[in-house]
Amino acid sequence: MSSVIAEKEGKIWAVGGGKGGTGKTFLASSIGIYLAKSEKRVILIDVDIGGANLHSLLGISRPKKCLTNFFETGTSLSRLAVKTGIENMSLITGDVHSLASDNIRFTQKLKLFRHIMKLNKQYVIIDLGGGSHNNTIDTFLMADKKIAVLEPEIIAIENMYHFVKNALFRKIRMSLRSYGFKEIVEHMWEQREKYQIKSLKELIDSLKDSFSYIGDILDRELADFRIYLVLNKIRSSQDILIGSSMKSIFNKYLGIDAKFVGYIEYDDVVWRSIRERRPLMLNYSLSRVAKEIGVFTENLLYEREMKISRI
Ligand SMILES: Nc1ncnc2c1ncn2[C@@H]1O[C@H](COP(=O)(O)OP(=O)(O)OP(=O)(O)O)[C@@H](O)[C@H]1O
Ligand SMILES: [Mg+2]
Repeated sequence: MSSVIAEKEGKIWAVGGGKGGTGKTFLASSIGIYLAKSEKRVILIDVDIGGANLHSLLGISRPKKCLTNFFETGTSLSRLAVKTGIENMSLITGDVHSLASDNIRFTQKLKLFRHIMKLNKQYVIIDLGGGSHNNTIDTFLMADKKIAVLEPEIIAIENMYHFVKNALFRKIRMSLRSYGFKEIVEHMWEQREKYQIKSLKELIDSLKDSFSYIGDILDRELADFRIYLVLNKIRSSQDILIGSSMKSIFNKYLGIDAKFVGYIEYDDVVWRSIRERRPLMLNYSLSRVAKEIGVFTENLLYEREMKISRI
């Protein structure tokens, strides 16, 4: 029964969240290993524009083939996937230059997304890197599960909020662009004081009130826009409340559904495993951090939320 639910909910997961250093790469690799150990086939894709380093966390050297080969010579993604030394799990590495470039034509990007979607017999875990580059946001939007990693620290909270807000605004504009309504949205947002619009939620509501056909399009296009929140590096049980607060904030100001799927405590065992170049999920599989990663990955698989009573 459970596996049927997981199949239905989609297997392309992107791990992002705006701020650098929150633990996206560590969590993307750990999610991948957890799934691979649960006998699922996994492909990790590293599209970190600032510096692809997922291979280091797996303790392997940088693969020679990378997404540049896909863009330049059309090498298939399955041929770019290299072994990771972990059963059931392979890795495709991005390329700093081609992905950072605004020169990647939109059609090339769509082609990449189409090919990633074709991998969906396997779990595809995408490590996004920090920042709000359009290529990062578009990859986040393409994923079935949009996982936002958060640290209990004000800059990380603000960056993550802006990352999700930018992603939502881009999604709205792109959805309406194909119907010729993009200018209406941009006009209303630019003139938001005049229209007394204080948040993206109010923008969406007033678009729906003013133009019922736009409301229908947005209902359809945003139906799947859901954020899965993961709180990393917590140092006290009080920190856990930030997950629930962010969920309410997303709902109130962006009008979107967010699920708080779990937290991971701050523990030196993480850097120790990275320094030893042996993944924590393998070498410290009995640690609390590994257990917490297992809990939130199960929550992601089966669309469950964190039970706050566990605190
Ligand atoms: N739960 C944790 N406890 C302690 N340290 C952690 C934890 N999670 C991550 N770290 C540490 O945080 C640092 C950054 O982790 P990581 O590289 O995964 O972040 P990132 O979000 O991918 O960064 P970037 O945005 O630069 O790609 C690493 O040094 C890692 O050891
Ligand atoms: Mg990273």
